[in-house]
Amino acid sequence: VTKAVILVGGASRGTRFRPLSLDVPKPLFDVAGHPIIWHCLTAIEKVPSIHEVYLIGYYDESVFRDFIKDAAHHFPNLSIKYLREYQALGTAGGLYHFRDAILKGRPERLFVLNSDVCCSFPLNEMLKLFNEKDAEAVILGTRVSEDAATNFGCIVSDNHTRRVLHYVEKPESKISNLINCGVYLFATEAIFPSIKSAIKRRADRPNRLVSYPSSDNLESSFIEYQNDDDDDEGRQNEVIRLEQDILSDMADNKQFFVYETKDFWRQIKTAGSAVPANALYLQKAWQSGSKELAQPSANIIPPVFIDPTAHVDPTAKLGPNVSIGARATVGAGARVKESIVLEDSEIKHDACVLYSIIGWNSRVGAWARVEGTPQPVTSHTTSIVKNGVKVQAVTILGKECAVGDEIRVQNCVCLPFKELKRDVANEVIM
Ligand code: GDD
Ligand code: GTP
Repeated sequence: VTKAVILVGGASRGTRFRPLSLDVPKPLFDVAGHPIIWHCLTAIEKVPSIHEVYLIGYYDESVFRDFIKDAAHHFPNLSIKYLREYQALGTAGGLYHFRDAILKGRPERLFVLNSDVCCSFPLNEMLKLFNEKDAEAVILGTRVSEDAATNFGCIVSDNHTRRVLHYVEKPESKISNLINCGVYLFATEAIFPSIKSAIKRRADRPNRLVSYPSSDNLESSFIEYQNDDDDDEGRQNEVIRLEQDILSDMADNKQFFVYETKDFWRQIKTAGSAVPANALYLQKAWQSGSKELAQPSANIIPPVFIDPTAHVDPTAKLGPNVSIGARATVGAGARVKESIVLEDSEIKHDACVLYSIIGWNSRVGAWARVEGTPQPVTSHTTSIVKNGVKVQAVTILGKECAVGDEIRVQNCVCLPFKELKRDVANEVIM
């Protein structure tokens, strides 16, 4: 028996996903026509030995209710449950807290998936390596540029045996360009004792110092930091991170291996990263001959997803890499490319939307132009420097925004309910 856990985090997280996470928890944001974590379930379903999946997070109980109902219907072979942490317990703390539930039925193996990554999730390949090596843990790895690597967990491995020799979470200096994709397979008899001894080590340490990973998300680190000060000792001891507290130790034991994927992989952190994630999942669906996608034609350049309830004028030109949400309308002569158009929004005739996200219930006026800047697929950042200022490469309209007729919006992030009546570029509109 194998089980799977998807770490969904909670409301204090996903701050870099604003303004899109203001209305929908990030794991439920739609890319390529489905919530982000739906794509995880699609991969999990392909592992025959998995029948139980837990979403672990600290969102309110009600948040995933409808999602789980829909998923249960669509993935009849999977039992899906949400387990709520009373506070953020860290990537390993939640696993440990719910160990009784997870270990029920005596699963030998446990997949753990970060919810905020987009990849082909080669779980069966990881399982194969796990069995071949009689492993205690297998981590999914991918190669990124030397410069990008230090933003992730870095893996030093033996090329021949694929053994993990060292693991360092977001190192200060470059140690390897093979990075942690946030997807793991553990032997249950190895992971839970490891977490237990990490907790014990922490409790024994007289002067506890909780280190947080460096990240470019100053805002959220700050929030976490503040919480620390308020927390009492006992609760603090429960925050355990797989990356810092467990994986480095596992590298000392000999049974930790890395499966290196050559397939696509991207992190979904910033709101703008939903655009490449959307593109990658659409391309995957297109390659696998998915029936959900729109039929190619003179005006549909695949891959394009159009919700059945959306209305797209036949003279509008869409694609590649476009998703049109429920009840959205796209008028005559409009052009949409490399973009996500969310539910109930309206793109008027002859408007142009490129490398952008149009928020729920937003309006783009006639002959308006909303655009971001193309980024190389291999890039792991979603910001660019324009006139010496760091701006988002993707233009994002929050919910219920309105762009006037003939207005041009370029590389902007626009908070909800804004009306744009003049041309804007390289700005955050608040
Ligand atoms: N349930 C729960 N509780 N989930 C959590 C918690 C928590 O306290 N903290 C984080 N998560 C979830 C997040 O929602 C996300 O899906 C995942 O765990 C990892 O989030 P972070 O802790 O923010 O780490 P990161 O994304 O900066 O880095 C991790 O992922 C990278 C790949 O995307 C690390 O594992 C890196 O090594 C890795 O390269
Ligand atoms: P395609 O071959 O049509 O995909 O265009 P392209 O390869 O020239 O791509 P490009 O990124 O230059 O432009 C994308 C499409 O948007 C082009 O077909 C343009 O005709 C169209 N386009 C550009 N600006 C506007 C605009 O302001 N309004 C409208 N309606 N369409 C525009």
